[in-house]
Amino acid sequence: MEKKGQNILQVRDLTVQVSTKAGFSTLVQNINFGIEKGKVLGLVGESGSGKTVTSMSILQLLERKKTEIQGSITLRGQELNGLKNKELRKIRGKDIAFIMQNPMNAFTPVFTVGHQFVETIRSHTSLNKKQAKELAINIMESVNLPDPDKILKNYPFQLSGGMLQRVMIAVAACLNPTVIIADEPTTALDLHNQLLVLRLLEKIRSEYGTSVLLISHDLGVISEMADEVIVMKQGRIVESANVFDLFDNPKHEYTKKLLRTRPSLHAKQQPITHLAKV
Ligand SMILES: Nc1ncnc2c1ncn2[C@@H]1O[C@H](COP(=O)(O)OP(=O)(O)OP(=O)(O)O)[C@@H](O)[C@H]1O
Ligand SMILES: [Mg+2]
Repeated sequence: MEKKGQNILQVRDLTVQVSTKAGFSTLVQNINFGIEKGKVLGLVGESGSGKTVTSMSILQLLERKKTEIQGSITLRGQELNGLKNKELRKIRGKDIAFIMQNPMNAFTPVFTVGHQFVETIRSHTSLNKKQAKELAINIMESVNLPDPDKILKNYPFQLSGGMLQRVMIAVAACLNPTVIIADEPTTALDLHNQLLVLRLLEKIRSEYGTSVLLISHDLGVISEMADEVIVMKQGRIVESANVFDLFDNPKHEYTKKLLRTRPSLHAKQQPITHLAKV
């Protein structure tokens, strides 16, 4: 059992470089953060600030030959940086689920969504095919995916990005991971479905004590969901604070600017309240 206040996921001095024709280029540097059990860490920053690179490097999902990841990434004290692919495969999905910003990359085009969903569940649990399929359908219904049976028979290219992302969230929910990394999980969705996805994430967090790294450019989503927030700009963290402090008393000029320039969501959007009631 983890002691209170101890971080489940800890990133220390993370720097990611990529080799290009013009030499090495640094994508993110000196990234430090931790997430406690059952907490949501929000990661915000403008487009290109390094949010996806940071999250992908946690599971070393960036092209390995071209990128160099320095620093330490620990899950419950286990160092992940430098693990072999075989070892990382055991951690991906089961310990850390990653909901990708570009969901097409998460699926193989040659198998149906159902085949991939069921096999992913089966590779990490002792369920048989029928049980895995039932579980998949139940969870898909809870994220409002219409006609789950039909979706499972489809190939990835037959579904929209938003649908594939919800399928990924459903897969994550089935496996009850220690950490969920969700990269812009609501961006491709309309308001109603955004709410369903956020409620599901919140439900997983509160029921299983899952820690969540929630990446979003939507400050409305972050303010509703996150406990702590880090703000990135040009590959660095420029501010990190408790969500209330960040919104009430932003310290960094860039954070103030982000807050000022956010679209006035709450004027048009229903507040995301009573998240636990799914
Ligand atoms: N494989 C790569 N090779 C070279 N540059 C890359 C590579 N991947 C990302 N970058 C660059 O790294 C920077 C950070 O990109 P990243 O995708 O992390 O941004 P982001 O904060 O997720 O943006 P968005 O909000 O648009 O998703 C960008 O300038 C991007 O062009
Ligand atoms: Mg991104």
